[in-house]
Amino acid sequence: METRILKVTTPQEQLGYFSPSASSSPLSSLAQWVVPPSTASDPALSQAAQHLRETDIPVAFPTETVYGLGADATRSAAVKGIYTAKGRPSDNPLIVHVCDLDMLRSLLRPSSSASPQKEGPSASPNGSTAEDDDPIPAIYRPLIQKFWPGPLTILLPNPAGSKLAPEVTAGLPTFGARMPASALARSLISLAGAPLAAPSANASTRPSPTSARHVADDLAGRIAVILDSGEGLCGVGVESTVVDGLCEPPVVLRPGGVGIDEIRGVTGWEGVGRAYRDGVETGKSKPRAPGMKYKHYSPRARVVLYEAGGGGAPGGVVDGDLREVVAEEKRTVGVIRTVGWPVFGGIQCEKTALGEEAAGGVEGDGEDSLPCLSVIEGRQVGNEGVKVLDLDLGGNVQLVAQGLFAGLRELDRRGADVIFIEGVPEGEGIAAAVMNRLRKAASVIKG
Ligand code: TXA
Ligand code: MG
Repeated sequence: METRILKVTTPQEQLGYFSPSASSSPLSSLAQWVVPPSTASDPALSQAAQHLRETDIPVAFPTETVYGLGADATRSAAVKGIYTAKGRPSDNPLIVHVCDLDMLRSLLRPSSSASPQKEGPSASPNGSTAEDDDPIPAIYRPLIQKFWPGPLTILLPNPAGSKLAPEVTAGLPTFGARMPASALARSLISLAGAPLAAPSANASTRPSPTSARHVADDLAGRIAVILDSGEGLCGVGVESTVVDGLCEPPVVLRPGGVGIDEIRGVTGWEGVGRAYRDGVETGKSKPRAPGMKYKHYSPRARVVLYEAGGGGAPGGVVDGDLREVVAEEKRTVGVIRTVGWPVFGGIQCEKTALGEEAAGGVEGDGEDSLPCLSVIEGRQVGNEGVKVLDLDLGGNVQLVAQGLFAGLRELDRRGADVIFIEGVPEGEGIAAAVMNRLRKAASVIKG
C-alpha cells in the first residue's frame, strides 16, 4: 500500500469554531464544532475524511498529545483496521475522540432516543440539552469545563444499544472519551461525521509518534494517509491523562498531559487517587527480570534510566557505566539530558534540524526538529573510543515531555546501542507522565 503524508494548508485559526448552544449550562460553549466550507474543501483534510468514511484503513492524524491512528468508532470493520495496521491483537480499549459535546452526548444516549450521527459533516444534533437531563455525568462537568478541549480522557458509561463498535470498549461497560485541543483533529472528526477511535499511531511496542515522519517510520505500507499539521512536533508530547470518575474516590488511571495536582483543584476531584503502577516500586536500582520488562514505548536500544535524586549520576553518566557498555562491545552511546545533567564531554551543542531524509521513501515527508543534539566522535573510555550522541531536551519539564519520544526515536535511528537518560524530579504535573513513560521504556533503572 502506498503511504502519503498530506500536509494541511488551511491556517490554524480557520480550521473551525465552536458554536455555543442556547442552554445556560457552563458547557454550552463546547456544544458544536463548526467547520467552514472553505476548510472542508482543504485537499488534505477532505481526502483524509473521505478515507475515514469510505474505507476500513485507519488514518493517522496529529493531536496536541501524540499522533493518533483513527477510525470511525461506530464501524467494527474500520476499528479492526486499526489493529491490523498496528500489528497487535484487539485486547485494549481505545479512546473515542469527539469534536464537540453534541457528539459526545449522542454516544451517551441510548440509541432509540438519539439522533443518527452518520449522515455526514453537519449531522451533529443541535445541542439544546437542558443541564438537568444532560447525559454527561455531573462529576465530569467541571473537569470538562476546565480541561476540554485538551489532553484529558474520561471514562463514561456505555449505554445499552451503544453506537460504538464493540471492539472499541474491549468488552468493558465503559468507554474512554476525549475532545482533543487540536483544531485540526476536531475538524477531521467533524468532516468524518463520526467519533474516531484512536490509539497512538506507533507500531506496537515503539515510542509514541509525535510527528508525521515518526508515523511513516512505523506504518509506511500499512496505512494510506498520514495528516500533517506542518507544525512540527505535537505540543504536549505525551498521551492524555486518563481518569475514572465513576468510582469513589475518582482515580487517575494513566498520568498524562494534565497533572494530578491540577485535577485535584476541581470540585468533586479533591480526593482523586492514583490507580497506576510504574514498576519503579519493583525495578529500582537493578535490571528487571526479562519477563517483568514492559515492552512499551521502547526504542531498539537498551534504555538505562537514572532516577532524579537517586545520586546515581551527579554530573551525568558515570564512567563506570560507560566502561560496562564498552566492555560489551557497544560503541554508540546515546545520552539524553533533561533538566540537570551538564553537557556531556564539555562540548557546545547546536540546535539540529532533523529529518532531511524521507522515511522509507514516503512522499510528502515533513521535518521535525529537536532542541539540541550533538554527536561527539571518538570519546576515549579507557583505551576504547566510543561515539556519543548527546541530546539536550531543553531544561524544563514541558520541553522534556515534548521531545522525549522524538529523542528516543532519533537516537535509535542514529544507531545507539544503549541510551542513558536523566530522569526528572517527579512532582504531580507532567513530570509524572514523563517518568511513567521512561520507566516503561527502561531495561535498567538506577536509583
Ligand atoms: O493522548 C492520547 O490519549 C492518545 C491520542 C491519540 O489521543 N491516545 C492514546 O490511546 O494514547 P491509547 O489507545 O494508546 O491509550 C488508551 C488508554 C489505555 O491506557 C487504555 O487502557 C485506556 O486509555 N482506556 C480506554 N478506554 C478505557 C476503558 N473503558 N476503561 C479503562 N481504560 C480505558
Ligand atoms: Mg499507545
